[in-house]
Amino acid sequence: MDIIRDLFGQREKAAALTREAFQRLPRHVGIIMDGNGRWAKKQGLGVALGHRRGVETLREIIRHTDDLGIGALSIYAFSTENWNRSAEEVGALMQLILDFFASEIDELHEKNVRILILGEKDVFPPRQRETLVRAEERTASNTGLTLNICLNYGGRAELARAARQIARDVLEGRLDVDEVDEKAVSDRLYTAGQPDVDLMIRTSGEMRLSNFLLWQCAYAEFLFPTVLWPEFTVAHYDEALLAYGGRDRRFGGRKP
Ligand code: IPE
Ligand code: IPE
Ligand code: MG
Repeated sequence: MDIIRDLFGQREKAAALTREAFQRLPRHVGIIMDGNGRWAKKQGLGVALGHRRGVETLREIIRHTDDLGIGALSIYAFSTENWNRSAEEVGALMQLILDFFASEIDELHEKNVRILILGEKDVFPPRQRETLVRAEERTASNTGLTLNICLNYGGRAELARAARQIARDVLEGRLDVDEVDEKAVSDRLYTAGQPDVDLMIRTSGEMRLSNFLLWQCAYAEFLFPTVLWPEFTVAHYDEALLAYGGRDRRFGGRKP
């Protein structure tokens, strides 16, 4: 699909498809929003502006996901490994967390979106932590789109946390060792009660999971558009959703 941009590099509002255009939509979409750094470099801008521009994309993608009636969206915003970046870049991302919630929370709440933060919040500075806790609390009883914002998130850390909870539950007599099955693990993940990821999209052409939703992606369909996240539009998203609809999902079985 053609992406038309005006002289200022602003995205032209791409025509978004409606729910009826899709034969089958995923129940849960995961997105690894990658390529902000490369986009900024390409424009001769600092990386912070790349992340800022990435938030613009995110806003549109959340809106479209909600419009399509998809049940859950998980977005990878900051990994447990991203702390390894420079203090300046981490600082810019911390500021973006505050800015994102300040500008979006009212609309998201109004749209009945339930926000969950996937990842340990304790390591964030107090203002960020309070913002995240407040967003979760405020939207806790909403029944529309579940928006999983993955911050200080790592799939391995999530599994280790589930293992700790299981051990505690066994030790304290709430769970029998023989009851430790797949459901027992799923129930102790941040995504407890949500469907597995059906479609995982990673922009920028990188083809790896980078520690994202390891358990939940067991049978996900993967798409790796080469477009950088700041340039990803709802038209690209629709294209990915259409491609998902054409995938033959067998889950190990065989169709007659
Ligand atoms: C992804 O963009 C956003 C975060 C990791 C927060 P990058 O910053 O990884 O962009 P590239 O990979 O350097 O282009
Ligand atoms: C994954 O992207 C994390 C996020 C998008 C938040 P990275 O850019 O950090 O991953 P690697 O380093 O390329 O694997
Ligand atoms: Mg990257």
